[in-house]
Amino acid sequence: MLEAEFHDGEVTWFQGGMLNVAFNCLDRHLPEKAEDTAIIWEADEPSESRHITYRELKWEAARLGNVLKNLGVRKGDRVIIYLPMIPELAYAMLACARIGAVHSVVFAGFSATSLRDRVLDCGATVVITANEGRRGGKAIPLKAIVDDAVTGIDSVKSVLVAKRTATEVPMHFGRDIWLEEAMLNERGTCPCEWMSAEDPLFILYTSGSTGKPKGLLHTQAGYLLYASLTHKIVFDYHPGDIYACVADVGWITGHSYIIYGPLCNGATTLMFESTPLYPNPGRYWDLVERHRVNSFYTSPTAIRSLAREGNEWVKKYDRSSLRILGTVGEPINPEAWKWYFDVVGEGKCPVVDTWWQTETGGIMVTPLPGVTALKPGSATLPFFGVSLSVTDENGNCMQGNGIAGHLCIERPWPGMARTIHGDHKRFREMYFVQYKGKYFTGDGCRRDEDGYYWITGRVDDVINVAGHRLGTAEIESSLAGNHLVAEAAVVGIPHEIKGTAIFAFIVPQKEAERMTREELMGALKEHVRHDISPIASPEQVLSVPALPKTRSGKIMRRILSKIAVGNYTELGNVTTLQDPAVVEQIIAEHKKLG
Ligand code: PRX
Repeated sequence: MLEAEFHDGEVTWFQGGMLNVAFNCLDRHLPEKAEDTAIIWEADEPSESRHITYRELKWEAARLGNVLKNLGVRKGDRVIIYLPMIPELAYAMLACARIGAVHSVVFAGFSATSLRDRVLDCGATVVITANEGRRGGKAIPLKAIVDDAVTGIDSVKSVLVAKRTATEVPMHFGRDIWLEEAMLNERGTCPCEWMSAEDPLFILYTSGSTGKPKGLLHTQAGYLLYASLTHKIVFDYHPGDIYACVADVGWITGHSYIIYGPLCNGATTLMFESTPLYPNPGRYWDLVERHRVNSFYTSPTAIRSLAREGNEWVKKYDRSSLRILGTVGEPINPEAWKWYFDVVGEGKCPVVDTWWQTETGGIMVTPLPGVTALKPGSATLPFFGVSLSVTDENGNCMQGNGIAGHLCIERPWPGMARTIHGDHKRFREMYFVQYKGKYFTGDGCRRDEDGYYWITGRVDDVINVAGHRLGTAEIESSLAGNHLVAEAAVVGIPHEIKGTAIFAFIVPQKEAERMTREELMGALKEHVRHDISPIASPEQVLSVPALPKTRSGKIMRRILSKIAVGNYTELGNVTTLQDPAVVEQIIAEHKKLG
């Protein structure tokens, strides 16, 4: 079943087994569930929603599978999906899974540059997008972004365009095809490509501590087993339940807990196109009332932003259907946890604080609802079969309870990513070399006296902003790519709603001297928004004469993190700096912020 050289990042599960993921998520359910709702689609406007049955979902995925095959997509070929949260996103993923193509979903909030990097890295031949997206009452010009992103990329032969709105968009003759029209001509049957357990299923890009985002590759059998098992157990799923995860499918949470896990379990899963604040802060609970949702899964940032809007928005709606509340993506502070438990769940619904990562494929640390005694702010205990260890900075495994260190995983689990697309060496070095024989998560944690785990956040150069993972290196290279900036260093600072926000220190170019602080900050925020995504845009930008560097030229972010929060006295040893006087100059600039 398991064959692994874990210390080397080589893991296989169920080798020799054959399956098709789309068959398991669709066809397998048809004898009993053809007319059951597979997906409830809740559109941006609360007045619009749709129920898609298992029969319809299979039919649409099969038709789209045929469209892809006609475009020459074969087993193993990569397809980029750059879609908003519309049903076509589910059709597209399942169509790829059906024909054995490898999808890579790119969050529709990413810029043309970010999309282009991903298209190039995975060598996609087809991109699936929409004319526009809708979110919070605003239109997002997705097709225009794709045009920008794929210009000059020869590997991209076709762009399939779903029609989300009535807005006209230019279509490139010979490349662009309206998805709906192409699907109309196709049959609703499409044979499943039988895949080996370890064939790739999808690539999902995520930020690391160095360089550009990396494409984590997940395979078929182990991933599907792990996503479906954790979905069933952690959300105590029973037939007939309505389950709503309000994340975006562009992230791993959406892959595992909107699409693959729930559909493999034959569940009714909700796809939510909008935001928690549109058209007002009652949106989630309105949705719970209208669809009689039993399990609800969201992020701590969303909970914090709703808690400050007052309890009335929650109380207005009937939430008696709720049984389980979940959170994911970042540490949840006990106050936010209590608000979720007391106000939203009226003290009746267990909160499952689930810790996991893009790399883990599914939930690793979590309470089991109704079983595990809860502690607000703790992800509690490992899931079945997961063996954790806490390691000190020298790699020694710390024994006993009441300790804090780096979180590692001791042995392989079926849902884990198998490699980084095109760079297995990087995969090995990122996760398996630092602590010999263990998988290193990049997170710090505490194990309390009861053996409960408390995740304290990233210990590498990754910043988690509102549950979104961003690499300092990515943001720094984006800033340094602007003509106003000579050098940049970014650090995370605590933020009331987002958990962590980005603070950027920049050394300006001469031409920035004519600008006011506000003008410069505005220009650079806009630059990063456009270059990466609005989620990567810095909260603060501070011009400084130089950055603190060691003699070997490495930026000492540790010092900058302290200065960014106004802690000028506990900077630690600064004698190894090339020029220790720089620190005083940076402090002087920071003090001017007031
Ligand atoms: O730092 C941890 C944080 O999110 C990181 C993984 O981010 P990503 O790969 O984007 O996946 C997010 C959704 C699974 C982790 O390394 N994180 C995730 N869940 C939690 C968390 N931190 C604390 N508590 C959690 N429940």
